[in-house]
Amino acid sequence: MKFPCRIDKFVSHINELPRSKVKILIKKGEVAINGIVTKKSDVQIGADDLIEVSGKQLKYLGKRYFMLNKPQGYVCANHDELHPTVFDLLNEPNLKDFHVAGRLDIDTTGLVLITNDGDWSHQITSPKKQKFKTYLVETKEIITEESLEKLRHGVALHNEKQLTRPAQAEAIDKYALRLSICEGKYHQVKRMLAAVENHVVELHREKISGITLDTNLAQGEYRPLTQQEVDIINAK
Ligand code: URA
Repeated sequence: MKFPCRIDKFVSHINELPRSKVKILIKKGEVAINGIVTKKSDVQIGADDLIEVSGKQLKYLGKRYFMLNKPQGYVCANHDELHPTVFDLLNEPNLKDFHVAGRLDIDTTGLVLITNDGDWSHQITSPKKQKFKTYLVETKEIITEESLEKLRHGVALHNEKQLTRPAQAEAIDKYALRLSICEGKYHQVKRMLAAVENHVVELHREKISGITLDTNLAQGEYRPLTQQEVDIINAK
């Protein structure tokens, strides 16, 4: 939401009402700006103006940021015909303004960041910014030192001309590794493991840049980011 903005647009946005209905409310004298009733739909308001509809104050909640522990079976999209979406797990007003900052596949679990701040999410998703994302990867085949070296150095993905960018890869046990990558190509981790003749069995995102998934969040739970977490992305 950008200010100054028209009063009808503001009310329609916050109350999730069609503009036509808001215009009727305004004509009826139900809308007041700083205590004075307005009957004009095109009056401009600022972020600090006090807006009331039928005596009830409307609050613009501003930029908001959440972390979610995504379970399997949910898609990172605003709408989907077939599957539940991560937004079904959030109980927040004005969800239609929100988007996911870096999607996960339907079968991947873990850290998903959700916001209505497009500039902030751009810092995470833009390839130019090179923000590291860390994944816990369980594999079908044994992880060899040779394959870890290849992952670190860069591998050729199917249908891609350039090698993947240098990554951090460390074995956790025979069939599990922690992989940090600073790109976000389609199915990148699964394709990287395929490039070293392995196969991803389970994939879980632990971290995006300096933001780590809160271990207090069970799968399907979410919480707002702290200001410190929000600032990590802006600072880097
Ligand atoms: N890489 C993948 O292959 N899948 C994800 O969900 C995230 C990264």
